Amino acid sequence: MSGATPPPAVTVGAAPLVGEGFVLRPWRPGDEDALIRHADDRGVWRNLTDHFPHPYTREAAYLWIASQLEAEQKGALCNLAIEVGGEACGGIGIQPFTDLACKGAEIGYWLGRSHWGAGIATRALRLLTAHVFSTTDRERLQATVLAWNPASCRVAEKAGYQCEGTLRNSIFKDGELIDSYLYARIRADG
Ligand SMILES: CC(C)(COP(=O)(O)OP(=O)(O)OC[C@H]1O[C@@H](n2cnc3c(N)ncnc32)[C@H](O)[C@@H]1OP(=O)(O)O)[C@@H](O)C(=O)NCCC(=O)NCCS
Repeated sequence: MSGATPPPAVTVGAAPLVGEGFVLRPWRPGDEDALIRHADDRGVWRNLTDHFPHPYTREAAYLWIASQLEAEQKGALCNLAIEVGGEACGGIGIQPFTDLACKGAEIGYWLGRSHWGAGIATRALRLLTAHVFSTTDRERLQATVLAWNPASCRVAEKAGYQCEGTLRNSIFKDGELIDSYLYARIRADG
């Protein structure tokens, strides 16, 4: 059996996306201090993949930014910083699926605690969702939200994502086995 043809690289592009009170733009050298300040937070890490470091060290920050420069050079930039007041305070990005799911992608986001509750994540999710649907071939974006994270459920709902179900015992995080919710928005949702 021959292998599947790899899909073309997906990129969200390097041009800044300007939202109300924030800008989405690529991670750049010089963002390290702000990244560490906002990301080195157990309350952020607890709701994200274990690939997100904790503690968030300087080395982790350098590695992350180097990985983003490399992705940009390959035309496969999929993550953007959420810049508020001139500094990178959070991140948002997609992870394109392949094979049978090649028309979809996972979308993820986080924001530094000092900016929570101001609607920024919701507006950033709306903006990147619209951008991905208008500039890529992706038909479906989905977010996996841990069951103990009602704020993110609310963000997804406010950005037009529908909860498609509960994935029981799907997550082992921070020593606990918990459910997650699968949220999705498809192009046809408008
Ligand atoms: C989840 C997160 C992105 C939200 O960012 P934010 O900018 O504060 O989100 P918004 O202000 O746009 O919206 C938050 C909503 O959640 C609601 N909310 C906050 N805490 C809540 C709680 N404990 N229970 C229910 N709703 C809650 C807010 O009231 C608001 O809804 P409203 O506008 O209807 O009042 C941010 O808290 C974060 O980065 N957390 C850590 C990482 C994370 O969870 N990422 C998402 C992984 S799926």
